[in-house]
Amino acid sequence: MSNVVITSSTFVRHLSRSTLRKLADFLDPGDTWKRVLEEIHKPSGEPRYTQLHLRRFEGLVAQGKSPTIELLYDWGTTNCTVGELVDILLKHQLFAPASVLLPDVCTNHKAKVHHASPSHQETAQHPGPLVLQKGEEETPLPDSTTDPEEHSELSDTGFLRFTYQELMKITGNWDERPVSQGGCRLGEGGFGIVFKGIRRDTYVAVKKLHAMDDISPEELKNQFSQEIQTLMALKHENLVNMVGFSSDGQHPCLVYAYMPNGSLLDRLACLEGSPPLSWRKRCEIAVGTAKGLEYLHCNHHVHRDVKSGNILLDKMFVPKISDFGLTRASAKRSSSTVMTERIVGTTAYMAPEALRGEITPKSDIFSFGVVLLEIISGLPPVDENRDPQLLMEMRDEIDEEEMSLEEFVDKKMGDWNFTAIEKIYSVASQCLNDKKNRRPLIKEVQELSTVKSLTAELIPVTYQIHI
Ligand SMILES: Nc1ncnc2c1ncn2[C@@H]1O[C@H](COP(=O)(O)OP(=O)(O)OP(=O)(O)O)[C@@H](O)[C@H]1O
Ligand SMILES: [Mg+2]
Repeated sequence: MSNVVITSSTFVRHLSRSTLRKLADFLDPGDTWKRVLEEIHKPSGEPRYTQLHLRRFEGLVAQGKSPTIELLYDWGTTNCTVGELVDILLKHQLFAPASVLLPDVCTNHKAKVHHASPSHQETAQHPGPLVLQKGEEETPLPDSTTDPEEHSELSDTGFLRFTYQELMKITGNWDERPVSQGGCRLGEGGFGIVFKGIRRDTYVAVKKLHAMDDISPEELKNQFSQEIQTLMALKHENLVNMVGFSSDGQHPCLVYAYMPNGSLLDRLACLEGSPPLSWRKRCEIAVGTAKGLEYLHCNHHVHRDVKSGNILLDKMFVPKISDFGLTRASAKRSSSTVMTERIVGTTAYMAPEALRGEITPKSDIFSFGVVLLEIISGLPPVDENRDPQLLMEMRDEIDEEEMSLEEFVDKKMGDWNFTAIEKIYSVASQCLNDKKNRRPLIKEVQELSTVKSLTAELIPVTYQIHI
């Protein structure tokens, strides 16, 4: 192959993988790449990368990736040049990696540094073309014809930006047969189908968004960016983990960590023959969900669609709240009620004021109350063949003694005890108060001595530390 010229005006994105690897050999050890990252700025002058981005790059090390290469892939998308990169390297006297790119400049610069004052170190100039040494071959960065797994890049959001093509490939061309039948479909919601995909030996869940009759493409776009913005800002053990997204194809897609135990809704219904959740597990799920909600509320976010279908369970059944497309940051931090003309959410979980378009954290508490009823009873939140159809209305039956709490309990659990059930039921009842101001705050839900004592009985010591 012929020699390829690298000049100071060569785009970083045109550097070959072998050149990037050589840079990584110098910059990965001792986290030297961080010094480069800190010097990268947007045209407006602000740093391109936040602490959040930095942590994301750090996280790549655990996945066996080179943060230097990922950083250069990402920065490369801005059409930055080798000259700009070499400037940064020289500024930090990182001569060895700079020499990989522009050896002559480095020799000159080192000589200058030797004789000049420190201020001169920052004004290195780059000469014209250089010919690579023999054996050095430039190959283009991967394109859509190369391994799709190598193609994703870190976007400004700190999430991976996939191409639609890659996602299509990792989901068997959007194979809509259920996973149980050898396909890739995990489920379907109001905004599209969720597929299971495999990326670098790790499963992911890909939500392919569709515009539906009652949702305009505009609205869909809003949901898409709302989800990304929210998950970019909020990180918690009990919130779903986003991996990335794609926006270059026919449908916008969101990519999440795959949750092997699916949704709480499906596990309570024992779908696909899954065994019933024990009472102990259900309590842990309730506590974890409350912790996730507390985090959201403390950060001035209202979820607006809390339901068992949006509580996903990881391999240890740790609950992860999902679907942030509808969340709203509270308009004012002190007063947390916002009105909207568009009523959104899932009716079977909605508080009276939410049905009138009022957005307040107290409506999430109400919905959480319905989830607690599901946890106790194992019953779906709505059933057309039941009287009453809405689970929340069964509370009236119990309160009016038309049904006993004992009858209400899901007998598929082997380990329930009535005292604990009564405690959780009492919390659910408080959450389901029609008057929003009489409902507890999520902090209070967690602090309710009943729940604390309950979890103390049920949850292993290591978990209790975090409560
Ligand atoms: N990260 C994930 N890992 C595993 N399964 C998932 C994941 N995300 C979603 N699912 C599955 O896909 C189903 C559909 O999810 P989706 O969020 O699209 O719809 P929904 O929550 O049921 O309804 P809505 O559209 O109102 O939120 C979920 O119920 C769950 O079973
Ligand atoms: Mg959902």
